[in-house]
Amino acid sequence: MNQKKYKSNKLGLNSCFLNKKNPFELFKAWMAKAKKTEINDPNALALATVNRNKQPSVRMVLLKGLTNKEFIFYTNLKSKKSNELKSNPKASMCFHWKSIRRQIRIDGSIKKVPNKIADQYFNSRPYGSRIGAWASIQSTPMKSRFDLIKRIKEYKIKFPIYKKVPRPPHWSGWALKANEIEFWLDGNNRIHERLRYKKLRSHWIKEILYP
Ligand SMILES: Cc1cc2nc3c(=O)[nH]c(=O)nc-3n(C[C@H](O)[C@H](O)[C@H](O)COP(=O)(O)O)c2cc1C
Repeated sequence: MNQKKYKSNKLGLNSCFLNKKNPFELFKAWMAKAKKTEINDPNALALATVNRNKQPSVRMVLLKGLTNKEFIFYTNLKSKKSNELKSNPKASMCFHWKSIRRQIRIDGSIKKVPNKIADQYFNSRPYGSRIGAWASIQSTPMKSRFDLIKRIKEYKIKFPIYKKVPRPPHWSGWALKANEIEFWLDGNNRIHERLRYKKLRSHWIKEILYP
């Protein structure tokens, strides 16, 4: 099928799919809409990873960076998700905005963000979140919640000044380089609308999918 022959006005899709060659422009437009309508966290996404035994697992994270290639979130590098990403550097992301009944799925390969970018983001976080990044040994069992509270107190003593809380070495960002992005819009009687962009070398191919 020669995708280049398609013009988006011939695809028969709702006008909210716009007519973009690049899915990032469409992503930004949908995110801007969701920011106006969602009651909280429009940047929340389900992140799926797969461990070395091919067992998938999924959890929510917040999108904290977007380039023209990559979707970025931050986390503990020793967490379950990070361990899985180290052994299998591929992931899938899914946004769902109930208020506008839309979904976006993004698949691709993942790598750590450069330290400079992670530092910049870390330094923009509130004091309590920075201390929390030091105190939480994310995804490992703890005996009692008092252990965590004790660790928070200890790190507050170690780093009493807001601007001088450094980024922990075990905390950084992951950047998902998308090779497929699919936009979904709810339709009557489950006759939904789907538009998939697939990366082919340097350009994106558009296809509409049966719901
Ligand atoms: C809306 C929402 C946003 C979240 N954002 C993040 C995030 O950006 N980074 C993070 O490490 N955990 C975030 N969490 C917590 C994760 O879902 C998860 O519990 C934690 O990262 C441990 O996951 P893991 O054991 O799979 O590594 C968020 C949870 C929710 C419900």
